[in-house]
Amino acid sequence: MWGERHMYRLFRPELSDMNLSSSPTFSTSNSTPYIVVAASGNGSNFQAIADAIRDEKLHAKIACLIVDKPCYAIERAHMLGIESILLERPWYKHFEEIIDRIEPALIVLAGFMRIIPSHIVERFFPKIINIHPALLPAFPGKDAIEQSFEYGVKIVGITIHFVDSGVDTGPIILQKAIEVKDNWNLETLENHIHELEHRYYWQVIDMLLTRPFSIENRKFKWGDEE
Ligand code: GRF
Repeated sequence: MWGERHMYRLFRPELSDMNLSSSPTFSTSNSTPYIVVAASGNGSNFQAIADAIRDEKLHAKIACLIVDKPCYAIERAHMLGIESILLERPWYKHFEEIIDRIEPALIVLAGFMRIIPSHIVERFFPKIINIHPALLPAFPGKDAIEQSFEYGVKIVGITIHFVDSGVDTGPIILQKAIEVKDNWNLETLENHIHELEHRYYWQVIDMLLTRPFSIENRKFKWGDEE
Protein backbone atom coordinates (compact mmCIF):
# COMPACT_ATOMS: atom_id res chain seq x y z
CA MET A 1 0.00 0.00 0.00
CA TRP A 2 2.85 2.46 0.73
CA GLY A 3 5.37 1.72 -2.03
CA GLU A 4 4.99 4.70 -4.33
CA ARG A 5 5.19 8.32 -3.38
CA HIS A 6 1.77 9.91 -2.99
CA MET A 7 1.10 13.58 -2.41
CA TYR A 8 -1.97 14.56 -0.40
CA ARG A 9 -3.85 17.67 0.55
CA LEU A 10 -6.84 17.07 2.80
CA PHE A 11 -8.57 20.42 2.62
CA ARG A 12 -8.70 23.09 -0.07
CA PRO A 13 -10.60 26.17 1.07
CA GLU A 14 -11.11 27.24 -2.54
CA LEU A 15 -13.07 24.04 -3.23
CA SER A 16 -14.88 23.73 0.09
CA ASP A 17 -18.08 25.49 -0.91
CA MET A 18 -18.37 23.24 -3.89
CA ASN A 19 -17.67 20.05 -1.92
CA LEU A 20 -20.00 20.87 0.89
CA SER A 21 -22.92 21.69 -1.37
CA SER A 22 -23.35 17.95 -1.92
CA SER A 23 -24.07 17.47 1.80
CA PRO A 24 -26.85 19.95 2.58
CA THR A 25 -26.74 19.47 6.35
CA PHE A 26 -23.22 20.78 6.47
CA SER A 27 -23.22 23.37 3.75
CA THR A 28 -21.50 26.55 4.76
CA SER A 29 -20.49 29.78 3.15
CA ASN A 30 -17.13 30.00 4.88
CA SER A 31 -14.12 27.79 4.40
CA THR A 32 -13.89 26.03 7.75
CA PRO A 33 -13.00 22.35 7.40
CA TYR A 34 -15.22 19.85 9.15
CA ILE A 35 -13.71 17.11 11.24
CA VAL A 36 -15.29 14.20 13.07
CA VAL A 37 -13.90 12.89 16.38
CA ALA A 38 -14.45 9.30 17.57
CA ALA A 39 -13.99 8.29 21.22
CA SER A 40 -14.92 5.51 23.63
CA GLY A 41 -14.04 6.83 27.07
CA ASN A 42 -13.04 9.90 29.01
CA GLY A 43 -12.71 12.11 25.95
CA SER A 44 -9.92 14.36 27.24
CA ASN A 45 -8.33 14.46 23.78
CA PHE A 46 -11.67 15.37 22.24
CA GLN A 47 -11.94 18.15 24.81
CA ALA A 48 -8.42 19.43 24.05
CA ILE A 49 -9.26 19.59 20.33
CA ALA A 50 -12.55 21.40 21.03
CA ASP A 51 -10.71 23.84 23.34
CA ALA A 52 -8.13 24.61 20.64
CA ILE A 53 -11.00 25.40 18.24
CA ARG A 54 -12.71 27.58 20.86
CA ASP A 55 -9.42 29.44 21.44
CA GLU A 56 -9.10 29.93 17.68
CA LYS A 57 -5.80 28.08 17.58
CA LEU A 58 -7.27 25.33 15.41
CA HIS A 59 -9.29 26.46 12.42
CA ALA A 60 -11.85 23.64 12.08
CA LYS A 61 -15.32 22.65 13.19
CA ILE A 62 -16.20 19.39 14.91
CA ALA A 63 -19.25 18.19 12.96
CA CYS A 64 -19.97 15.52 15.56
CA LEU A 65 -18.52 13.17 18.15
CA ILE A 66 -18.94 9.48 17.36
CA VAL A 67 -18.93 7.01 20.26
CA ASP A 68 -19.35 3.25 20.28
CA LYS A 69 -20.70 3.07 23.83
CA PRO A 70 -22.03 5.35 26.56
CA CYS A 71 -19.03 7.20 27.99
CA TYR A 72 -17.96 10.48 29.56
CA ALA A 73 -17.01 11.91 26.15
CA ILE A 74 -20.76 12.24 25.43
CA GLU A 75 -21.18 14.50 28.45
CA ARG A 76 -18.28 16.62 27.29
CA ALA A 77 -19.90 16.92 23.84
CA HIS A 78 -23.15 17.96 25.48
CA MET A 79 -21.38 20.66 27.52
CA LEU A 80 -19.56 21.84 24.40
CA GLY A 81 -22.76 21.96 22.34
CA ILE A 82 -21.45 19.36 19.90
CA GLU A 83 -23.71 16.64 18.56
CA SER A 84 -22.75 13.14 19.68
CA ILE A 85 -23.80 9.99 17.85
CA LEU A 86 -23.87 6.60 19.55
CA LEU A 87 -23.14 3.98 16.93
CA GLU A 88 -25.79 1.39 16.25
CA ARG A 89 -25.04 -2.15 15.16
CA PRO A 90 -23.28 -3.07 13.05
CA TRP A 91 -21.19 -0.14 14.30
CA TYR A 92 -18.87 0.03 11.28
CA LYS A 93 -21.79 0.42 8.84
CA HIS A 94 -23.20 3.25 10.86
CA PHE A 95 -19.70 4.76 11.16
CA GLU A 96 -19.29 4.67 7.38
CA GLU A 97 -22.75 6.18 6.83
CA ILE A 98 -21.92 9.11 9.09
CA ILE A 99 -18.64 9.75 7.27
CA ASP A 100 -20.41 9.57 3.92
CA ARG A 101 -23.04 12.02 5.06
CA ILE A 102 -20.66 14.56 6.60
CA GLU A 103 -17.69 14.15 4.25
CA PRO A 104 -15.24 15.48 6.83
CA ALA A 105 -11.75 16.55 5.85
CA LEU A 106 -10.38 14.44 8.70
CA ILE A 107 -11.60 11.65 10.99
CA VAL A 108 -9.84 11.90 14.32
CA LEU A 109 -9.71 8.81 16.53
CA ALA A 110 -9.24 9.89 20.13
CA GLY A 111 -9.38 6.82 22.33
CA PHE A 112 -11.81 5.02 19.99
CA MET A 113 -11.50 1.39 21.07
CA ARG A 114 -12.53 -0.35 17.85
CA ILE A 115 -10.54 -1.70 14.96
CA ILE A 116 -11.92 -0.13 11.82
CA PRO A 117 -12.43 -2.72 9.05
CA SER A 118 -9.86 -2.54 6.28
CA HIS A 119 -12.33 -1.68 3.52
CA ILE A 120 -13.26 1.52 5.37
CA VAL A 121 -9.68 2.39 6.26
CA GLU A 122 -8.56 1.91 2.67
CA ARG A 123 -11.47 3.86 1.28
CA PHE A 124 -10.72 6.92 3.38
CA PHE A 125 -6.93 6.72 3.64
CA PRO A 126 -5.23 9.06 4.68
CA LYS A 127 -8.18 10.80 6.31
CA ILE A 128 -8.32 8.71 9.48
CA ILE A 129 -5.73 9.47 12.15
CA ASN A 130 -5.11 8.09 15.62
CA ILE A 131 -3.14 8.99 18.71
CA HIS A 132 -1.32 6.31 20.67
CA PRO A 133 0.18 6.81 24.14
CA ALA A 134 3.53 5.14 23.41
CA LEU A 135 6.40 5.36 20.98
CA LEU A 136 5.29 2.94 18.29
CA PRO A 137 6.17 0.31 17.27
CA ALA A 138 6.74 -0.27 21.01
CA PHE A 139 3.65 -1.15 23.06
CA PRO A 140 0.88 -1.20 20.45
CA GLY A 141 -2.70 -2.07 21.43
CA LYS A 142 -4.40 -1.56 24.76
CA ASP A 143 -2.96 -0.25 28.04
CA ALA A 144 0.17 1.11 26.42
CA ILE A 145 1.00 3.47 29.29
CA GLU A 146 0.76 0.67 31.84
CA GLN A 147 2.81 -1.60 29.61
CA SER A 148 5.52 1.06 29.27
CA PHE A 149 5.54 1.62 33.03
CA GLU A 150 5.70 -2.08 33.87
CA TYR A 151 8.47 -2.63 31.35
CA GLY A 152 10.50 0.13 32.97
CA VAL A 153 11.37 2.04 29.82
CA LYS A 154 13.28 5.27 30.39
CA ILE A 155 11.87 7.14 27.41
CA VAL A 156 8.12 7.30 26.83
CA GLY A 157 5.98 9.33 24.49
CA ILE A 158 3.14 9.60 22.03
CA THR A 159 2.64 8.68 18.39
CA ILE A 160 0.18 10.32 16.01
CA HIS A 161 -0.29 8.19 12.92
CA PHE A 162 -2.53 7.42 9.97
CA VAL A 163 -4.82 4.48 10.47
CA ASP A 164 -4.28 1.45 8.29
CA SER A 165 -5.83 -1.98 8.65
CA GLY A 166 -3.44 -3.14 11.39
CA VAL A 167 -3.46 -2.24 15.07
CA ASP A 168 -1.42 0.96 15.51
CA THR A 169 0.65 0.18 12.42
CA GLY A 170 -0.05 3.07 10.02
CA PRO A 171 2.54 5.61 8.81
CA ILE A 172 3.75 7.89 11.60
CA ILE A 173 3.06 11.62 11.38
CA LEU A 174 4.59 12.78 14.66
CA GLN A 175 6.20 11.38 17.79
CA LYS A 176 7.14 13.23 20.96
CA ALA A 177 9.21 11.71 23.72
CA ILE A 178 10.02 12.49 27.34
CA GLU A 179 12.35 10.95 29.88
CA VAL A 180 10.85 9.00 32.77
CA LYS A 181 11.99 10.33 36.14
CA ASP A 182 12.84 7.89 38.92
CA ASN A 183 10.15 9.25 41.23
CA TRP A 184 7.27 8.83 38.74
CA ASN A 185 4.54 6.33 39.46
CA LEU A 186 1.97 5.10 36.95
CA GLU A 187 -0.30 8.06 37.61
CA THR A 188 2.46 10.63 37.11
CA LEU A 189 3.44 8.90 33.90
CA GLU A 190 -0.18 8.93 32.66
CA ASN A 191 -0.47 12.63 33.42
CA HIS A 192 2.68 13.45 31.48
CA ILE A 193 1.57 11.38 28.49
CA HIS A 194 -1.86 13.00 28.43
CA GLU A 195 -0.27 16.40 28.68
CA LEU A 196 1.77 15.62 25.54
CA GLU A 197 -1.34 14.33 23.76
CA HIS A 198 -3.35 17.42 24.55
CA ARG A 199 -0.50 19.68 23.48
CA TYR A 200 0.22 18.05 20.13
CA TYR A 201 -2.90 16.37 18.69
CA TRP A 202 -4.68 19.57 17.69
CA GLN A 203 -1.46 20.97 16.23
CA VAL A 204 -1.10 17.95 13.95
CA ILE A 205 -4.76 18.26 12.95
CA ASP A 206 -4.19 21.91 12.12
CA MET A 207 -1.15 21.10 9.99
CA LEU A 208 -2.90 18.25 8.18
CA LEU A 209 -5.75 20.59 7.29
CA THR A 210 -3.50 23.32 5.98
CA ARG A 211 -0.42 21.71 4.49
CA PRO A 212 0.24 19.21 1.73
CA PHE A 213 2.18 16.09 2.64
CA SER A 214 3.54 12.95 1.07
CA ILE A 215 3.84 9.29 2.01
CA GLU A 216 6.37 7.00 0.42
CA ASN A 217 7.47 3.61 1.76
CA ARG A 218 5.64 4.40 5.02
CA LYS A 219 7.58 7.63 5.37
CA PHE A 220 5.48 10.69 5.98
CA LYS A 221 6.81 14.14 5.07
CA TRP A 222 5.35 17.62 5.01
CA GLY A 223 5.87 19.12 1.61
CA ASP A 224 4.71 21.16 -1.31
CA GLU A 225 2.69 19.79 -4.13
CA GLU A 226 4.55 19.08 -7.33
C1 GRF B 1 -5.36 8.32 25.04
O1 GRF B 1 -4.30 8.00 25.89
C2 GRF B 1 -5.05 7.96 23.63
O2 GRF B 1 -3.70 8.03 23.33
C3 GRF B 1 -5.50 6.52 23.54
O3 GRF B 1 -6.65 6.46 24.34
C4 GRF B 1 -6.58 7.46 25.34
C5 GRF B 1 -7.85 8.25 25.27
O4 GRF B 1 -7.97 9.16 26.32
N1 GRF B 1 -5.71 6.12 22.17
P1 GRF B 1 -9.15 10.21 26.33
O5 GRF B 1 -10.46 9.42 26.17
O6 GRF B 1 -8.95 11.15 25.18
O7 GRF B 1 -9.08 10.90 27.64
